[in-house]
Order: sequence, then structure tokens, then C-alpha cells
Amino acid sequence: MTARIAVLISGEGRNLQALIDACADGRIDGRIVVVLSNRAEAGGIARAQRAGIAVELLSHRDYASREAYDTALVSRLAAYRPDIVVLAGFMRILTPLFIGAYAGRMLNIHPSLLPRHPGLHTHEAVLAAGDAEHGATVHFVTDELDGGPRVIQGQFKVRADDTPQTLAARVMSEVELKIYPQAVAWMARGELALTAGGVELHGRILTAPVGMDAVEEAFR
Ligand code: GRF
Repeated sequence: MTARIAVLISGEGRNLQALIDACADGRIDGRIVVVLSNRAEAGGIARAQRAGIAVELLSHRDYASREAYDTALVSRLAAYRPDIVVLAGFMRILTPLFIGAYAGRMLNIHPSLLPRHPGLHTHEAVLAAGDAEHGATVHFVTDELDGGPRVIQGQFKVRADDTPQTLAARVMSEVELKIYPQAVAWMARGELALTAGGVELHGRILTAPVGMDAVEEAFR
């Protein structure tokens, strides 16, 4: 059964584009039924429109509290009956109200090797800490910010001449655009789930996130 996917964005939408492409060519057995942005200027909106996907704009500025915003978010998304909710650069701290509505069905991508460097400015933090490696992580969303159970992590060696800008570009092109469509594809096929025992991938409970070697040829 083709999965109904909602993608939430705030920015450029490069991850969104990778998901659009993977749905279009059948690598993800799913259909993006809505792209929701909290920012009118998000570049990803045009990407969704070009692909003929419904766009919902829900500005946080119109709501007095996080709870009020998340209540509106839940009801706006419900109309599209998503099976999977994908946070793709959605720059909002979510309340349990929204997270609870999609428990076990919501993924996020974070530009660091979690649990290292949760929060913002991860590329700067990697350089300041002198980390030898950097990358990105796909994880299930739980109430802990950037702390939900991890699914897949991709990494690379930091070079002596890397800057926050080069790291951001490498994280995106070398890691994010590969691991996120892969994780969503697994979920759409029913091969990835969050169970009481933890993250289950291909019928096995993960003791650690899988790495780039788990990425199928079609997603590399
Ligand atoms: C990505 O680096 C993602 O990890 C972070 O925000 C960025 C989104 O970029 N949460 P884009 O909107 O997918 O281009």
C-alpha cells in the first residue's frame, strides 16, 4: 500500500527535493500528500508546487503559544491522513501534543552524529570541538529534542581546511540526501518501525544506528 507522506519544512527543501524525486521514480513506495511550511519564504514551497504537491502554510507568528501552534498543526495535517510525517529542516521545537499524535510515525534528520551536537550550529560546534568526524542522523521523533531513537547515521572525516560552510555542504550532499530517502523508503515498505523494544529494521532490533553501508545502491 502506497504510504501517504507529509513533509514539514522551513527552508530550502533540498531534503524535500530528494524525497520528491525518490517518490517520483518509485524508490520510495509513497506519495507526498502535503508539504507544510511554517515560513512563507521557504524555498521548498516552490519545489512542492513544481511537483504538484499540496502546500499548507502555517505561520507560528499567528499563534500565541507552542501548544496553540501544535494544535493547529495536528488538525491541518489530519486532513491529509498521513501515514508518515517527515521533518525536513522544520525549525520548530515541537510539543508532546504534536509528537504524540504521530508517535512512531515521525522521522527527523539532524546535521550531526547524534548524540553529539544536538540543537543549532552543529558545523561550528564540530570545528570548535576538534571532532575528527562529522555527519548526519535520521531518528524517530520523541519528546527529547534531537534525542529520539536513531535509525541511520552517515559520517565522513573532517578535513583540516573544512569551514562551517564546507561542512554544511558535505553533510547535505554526502550524507543527508542519501540517508533520508533511504530511511523513508524503509518506513514506507514497513521495514522500519519503532517498537517497545526499540528501532526495528528488517525484522531486527538495532543496538546502534546503521551506517552508510546499509544504504541501498539506488540511494547512493
Ligand atoms: C538540513 O541540514 C537538516 O539537517 C537541518 O536543516 C537543513 C535543511 O535543509 N535540520 P533543506 O531545507 O533540506 O535544504
